[in-house]
Amino acid sequence: MRFAVFLFLALPVAAQHGQYVGGSRHPSIGNPEAIAAGAKLYATSCAGCHGPDGSGGRGPNLVRRSLWHPLSDENIFSAIRNGVPGADMPPTKLPDDQTWQLVAFLHALIGPASENAIPGDAAAGEQVFWGSKTGCSECHAIAGRGGRMGPDLTNVGGSHPLALIKESIVEPSKDLTFLGNEGVTVTMKNGQVLRGVARNRDNYSMQVVDRKGDLHMIPMMNVKELGIKDGSPMPGDYGKRLSPLELRDLLAYLAHQVSRPQGNSPQDKN
Ligand code: HEC
Ligand code: HEC
Repeated sequence: MRFAVFLFLALPVAAQHGQYVGGSRHPSIGNPEAIAAGAKLYATSCAGCHGPDGSGGRGPNLVRRSLWHPLSDENIFSAIRNGVPGADMPPTKLPDDQTWQLVAFLHALIGPASENAIPGDAAAGEQVFWGSKTGCSECHAIAGRGGRMGPDLTNVGGSHPLALIKESIVEPSKDLTFLGNEGVTVTMKNGQVLRGVARNRDNYSMQVVDRKGDLHMIPMMNVKELGIKDGSPMPGDYGKRLSPLELRDLLAYLAHQVSRPQGNSPQDKN
């Protein structure tokens, strides 16, 4: 329990999805055969309510879950075995090994990307991320390098399921809440125009990070006009601009981004 609480405190305020905490050591977890068997069981017993890709329907979206609602392998096992009392999720009578196969499949689907075998060439994906064709690093930092307008991606593989990373890139405006990340155009009373992302905004003041990464503290009394973008500040056309291969490699690179405690790894000393 203490571990779960610690993870909460370490969560960035802007995180928009439920964390996956505490993988178990059951041998099915991460085992490709168990995952494949679990995928079949999922398609017949669960997809009708949770969607073929976990994105929901009659039951909730399992990939993009609400904040403050952590799941673990054990929670998932018990939800499958016992159902969710009081909600519309029925219990199953599956034997232990099949129940674990389902857990293994869900772990691969909704657990952190770094815990799964991801196809693709991470070194090639690194070039895609830092290259000027995509400009990802103009807005995003990894390990202290890169832009500040978008969220830091140093631990994106350790905190986000692969499906969510992919969706963020290919369909950035699918999720409609950008609190803490709203794209804004601010016209000041003195005529100056600022474009960037509003980190904090209330009736009196606003903090805007511009494309260069500079932070502007703006009193609302100096603002003539405030335009707020409907969708994500991310470019919306990466789905077309990236080839399937580039996307696959980029995802492999991002899935590998996990922040480790400093000084524990030889890689930290470069
Ligand atoms: C009849 C529809 C239905 C079916 C079939 C169903 N579920 Fe659910 N499931 C739900 C509903 C509704 C909830 C939300 C319960 C709640 O309100 O917390 C839920 C919740 C869950 C949760 C917990 C999510 C969370 O964030 O707490 C998991 C995990 C889950 N289901 C997995 C499965 C799996 C695996 C199967 C197949 C064995 C399955 N479900 C079959 C309707 C269904
Ligand atoms: C113009 C700035 C900009 C560019 C360029 C950009 N992003 Fe983003 N990105 C953002 C902002 C702002 C957000 C937060 C809003 C959102 O979730 O869409 C974001 C969100 C994300 C997220 C979700 C992060 C989280 O914590 O939920 C990922 C992953 C991501 N971007 C990856 C990329 C990749 C990979 C590229 C290049 C292919 C890229 N971005 C290019 C600004 C940018």
